[in-house]
Amino acid sequence: MVSRVIPVESFDLVIFGGTGDLARRKILPGLYRRYLAGQMTEDSRIIGAARADLTEEAFRAQVGAAIEQFVPKARQDTAVIAEFLARISYVSIDAKGTGGWEALRAKMRPDVVRAFYFSVAPSLFGELAERLHRHSIADARARIVVEKPFGRDLASAKALNAVLASHFSEGQIYRIDHYLGKETVQNLMAVRFANILFEPLWKSEYIDHVQITVAETVGVEGRGAYYDKSGAMRDMVQNHMMQLLCLIAMEPPYHFDPDAVRDEKLKVIRALQPIAPGDIVRGQYLAGGGEGGYLEHCEDPGSRTESYIAMKVAIANWRWQGTPFYLRTGKKLRARTSEIAITFKQPPHSIFDDAEGWKENVLVIRLQPNEGMELMMMIKEPGPGGMRLMQVPLDMAFADALGVEADDVPDAYERLIMDVIRGNQTLFMRGDEVEAAWAWTDPIIQGWEGRGERPQGYDAGSTGPDDALMLMHRDGRRWREIKG
Ligand code: BG6
Repeated sequence: MVSRVIPVESFDLVIFGGTGDLARRKILPGLYRRYLAGQMTEDSRIIGAARADLTEEAFRAQVGAAIEQFVPKARQDTAVIAEFLARISYVSIDAKGTGGWEALRAKMRPDVVRAFYFSVAPSLFGELAERLHRHSIADARARIVVEKPFGRDLASAKALNAVLASHFSEGQIYRIDHYLGKETVQNLMAVRFANILFEPLWKSEYIDHVQITVAETVGVEGRGAYYDKSGAMRDMVQNHMMQLLCLIAMEPPYHFDPDAVRDEKLKVIRALQPIAPGDIVRGQYLAGGGEGGYLEHCEDPGSRTESYIAMKVAIANWRWQGTPFYLRTGKKLRARTSEIAITFKQPPHSIFDDAEGWKENVLVIRLQPNEGMELMMMIKEPGPGGMRLMQVPLDMAFADALGVEADDVPDAYERLIMDVIRGNQTLFMRGDEVEAAWAWTDPIIQGWEGRGERPQGYDAGSTGPDDALMLMHRDGRRWREIKG
C-alpha cells in the first residue's frame, strides 16, 4: 500500500544546534526523507545555525555525512541528496550575543512558514526566543520547536514557560516529545477511538492492570554527564511514559483536535495519585562482561541517579479506580523493547473444566521493535480429547498488514517536524500539561532525595533489580518477559 504524501506549505526551518547530535542523527536525515517522499516542497529551505565557524559547504558536507550514516542505504539516492543539500545553508550564530543574527534575518524569506528548532541546551531557550524577536526574525506565524528536557522540576518548567510566553503565544510553541510521533503511539488513539470493540471494556471493571515497558540495551556512555542530572524518572517517565499512560487512560476527546486531545490528557495527569515509597523501585546497572557500570559511565562514583525505574501508579477517577498501571524503564537491559500490555480480567464464571488452561486476554501494543499489536485470546486446543483451552495470539505486525517496508515507516521526528510546518499541535505538549507532569513528579523525586536513597544494583543484560519483580509478585501479578 502506498501511503498518501501531501506536500506541506513552503518553509524556512532554522535548526539551532544544527551541528549537534540530535540534528545529525534525527532532524536532518528525517528532513531528507521527507524531501525524498515529496512532502517537503522544492522551495523550502533549511538553515543550520550553531556556534561553529563553518562555511556553507562544510555544513552541507556534514549533513551529507549524516544522511549517509543514518538513512538506510536503500533510501540514499545520490541525485536527490544533492538536490536536498542545495536547499541547505548555514549561519554561525552567537546565541547569547549579537553575532550572526542579522545574517540569519537576511536569509529569511517573506511569505513562507518560519520555524525555529531549538535543539540546544534548555538554558539557551530564553535567549534564542528573545533574540528572534529583537532582530525581527520571528513573524506572527512563526513557530518554535523546543526539545526536552523541558525543565527539571515544576519551578524550572514554569520559568521556561514564562520566558517563552513573553515572546511567543502558546499556539506558536511546539514542545516535542518524540514518543508521540511514533506510528504505534498514534495507532493507540486510532484503536481506541475508531473502533467500538474495546471502548466498552476499557475500564477497571474489565481491565486487571496495565504494564508499560520501555527497555533499552544501551547504557549512558557518552552522555553520562547529562543523564546523571536526570535519571530515568526525568529522562523517560515524566515525559515519554507519562504520554503513553495518558493515551491509554484518557477519555475520548470530542474531536481529534489539539486542545481537545490535550485537555483529556491533562485530566489524566491531574488524576495521578502520589506514589508511596514502597511502590517505586530504582536501579543502577553494574559493571560486568568487561564493560563499565553506570558509576563509571556517569563519571561520579557516588552517584545516586537511577538508570532503571519501576513503579505502580494509580489513577483516581471513575474509569480507573482499582486498576494499577505498572511502569518500568531502564538502560542496559536484556533487550530493546517498548510495549504497552493491557491485561483483562477473568470471565466472571467458567463453564469449562480446564481451569488450568485458562489465561488472561492481553492486548499488547508493540512500539518497537516490529511495531504492531497482538491480542492474546483463548481458543479450543485443536483435535479430539475434549474441551481443552489454549492461548493464541492474534498478531498484526503493521509492516506486514500495511505492506510497507520497515525502512519506509517515517521516524517520529519526521512526522513531528511536518506537523510543525502544518501548524498542527495535537502531538505536542501544552505548557499546562508539562507543568502538571512535573507537579506529580516533583514530590516523588524529593521523597527519595530526602531519604538519601541509593538505587539498587542490577546486572547489565538482566531485566532489572529483583525488587522490581516483587512490585508485581506481591500483587499476584508478573511482568511480561523482556525479549527483543
Ligand atoms: C530520549 C532519552 O528522549 O529517548 C534517551 O533521552 C532514550 O535516554 C530515548 O534512550 C529513547 O528513544 P527511542 O525512540 O529510542 O525509544
